[in-house]
Amino acid sequence: MKQSKFLYALIALAMLLAIVPAASAAPNTAVACTDTHTVVAGDTLSLLADKAYGNVKAYWPIMAYTNYANLDDAKKYPNKITNPDVIDVGWVLCIPSQADATAFLAKFDPTKPNVGLLFGTPSSGQLQVGNWWTSGGEFAGINGVYDLYKKAYPGVELIHAGIAGGGGVNFQASNITKLQAGDPFDVFMLHAGKEVIQYDPEKYLTPVEDIVEAGEGSVMPDDLKKLLTYKGHMWTVPLNIHRGNVLWVNKKILADNGLTAPTTFDEFFTVADALKAKGIIPLAMGGANKFEGPQTFEVVLLGTVGPDGMLGLHDGTMKFSDPKVTEALNTYKKMLTYTNQDRDSLSWDQATKLVIEGKAAMNIMGDWADGEFVHAKKTAADYEGIPAPNNKGSFLLVSDGFGFPIKAPNPENARNWLKLITGKEAQEVFNINKGSICSRTDCDYSKFDDYLKSSAADFKVSRVIPIIVHGSAIDPAWKTAFTDIVIKFTADGDVAAAQAALVQAAKDAGVAQ
Ligand code: GAL
Repeated sequence: MKQSKFLYALIALAMLLAIVPAASAAPNTAVACTDTHTVVAGDTLSLLADKAYGNVKAYWPIMAYTNYANLDDAKKYPNKITNPDVIDVGWVLCIPSQADATAFLAKFDPTKPNVGLLFGTPSSGQLQVGNWWTSGGEFAGINGVYDLYKKAYPGVELIHAGIAGGGGVNFQASNITKLQAGDPFDVFMLHAGKEVIQYDPEKYLTPVEDIVEAGEGSVMPDDLKKLLTYKGHMWTVPLNIHRGNVLWVNKKILADNGLTAPTTFDEFFTVADALKAKGIIPLAMGGANKFEGPQTFEVVLLGTVGPDGMLGLHDGTMKFSDPKVTEALNTYKKMLTYTNQDRDSLSWDQATKLVIEGKAAMNIMGDWADGEFVHAKKTAADYEGIPAPNNKGSFLLVSDGFGFPIKAPNPENARNWLKLITGKEAQEVFNINKGSICSRTDCDYSKFDDYLKSSAADFKVSRVIPIIVHGSAIDPAWKTAFTDIVIKFTADGDVAAAQAALVQAAKDAGVAQ
């Protein structure tokens, strides 16, 4: 099923899962299906709802009744729908009568819903996996891990609680609310590093060092391991390492114009000028997920101040008033003049898509973009990912992992998930599809694509710098201030104001300036 067609459904499910109280069991009433429908190519739940009830949004009863039917008679109805975005050809669906559908919709309020109504009463409980992985590559990655989990624990109802919005722009606030309300997911996605502070781990999370140490502790790079401990405990079980400072290049556009991929800022602007003169968008950029501009600026900053300077900015040994920071702001401002007009309205993956489809030549993004190229069936002949201009030798680290709420409704299922993701099999399937390397050092890179092979090799020889914009390097409040300042600067281009604000934000975070 096409993701775009169903995005509203996914978002609705996501919102629903974000605000619903802990899942309660559905009344497992006798299940009456007026129609038993076998999915054919082109079917979507909303099309079926339209056919059955004349309402494209009335797909919830079909989802729920198919799940009830599955609990009642798994032989006749072997499929469960855990994500309304995903139904496959051959699946057998239970279509309730108009009256049952209407009755269901009357008690199912998408703004105050009951997850149990959608899923029935599973035999071994549920596993709600809170995350924001809903783009093509992201979902392919996590879905590979879901398949492994379902194989190992077939009695568990696994719920993809995906809250759309790259970088966690919508997920993180909802997750804080759920934790505080005592209504958490069983496990939730977070970044290694200081991001955990926003989740008040001593109050809401279970330490996970036992799981990390037993599962991957002996094969985890030190640069990552040292990011995991806060207040004497580990709170995150990592499953990957991303590189945040990559330049993605459409090879054909560059070759057709006799250009080679730029490795320095000067080369970047020469290439960008040549492309612009031919009416080609040199640099695709998004903005809708709020991190695209800030991350691009962070990459430019790293390329300007170098790895020692960047670590210095994190700890105050380099000041944000430094002329190099002014230089970085000016370079970024100049870069913006080579981007697409609709920058602010595109999400990160829509910007990457411009490069995939040959509508723009380059994009600065983390290597989750690789998953989008892979998902679009592009190969090394079509694209490459190289260190962003002036960034060679520095690896801007973004690591995804999962946290374990104290009040996880299904703690055993959660623990099994966390153990599973420390393993090689789960990390390989996840990272090959999502576009990242393993947090274990012993994955088999012969199975990975050319870009990821190069990233794994670079990781070993580069200076590893934790990223600001994805929560690793600095406290959450400071990170938010940093991000807001860059978003404002992206709009108004006021270098002096942005630099003064960066200085103030560091001071506010208690970092001497
Ligand atoms: C990052 C995350 C990545 C990727 C990206 C875009 O914060 O670490 O896994 O999902 O956001 O959504």
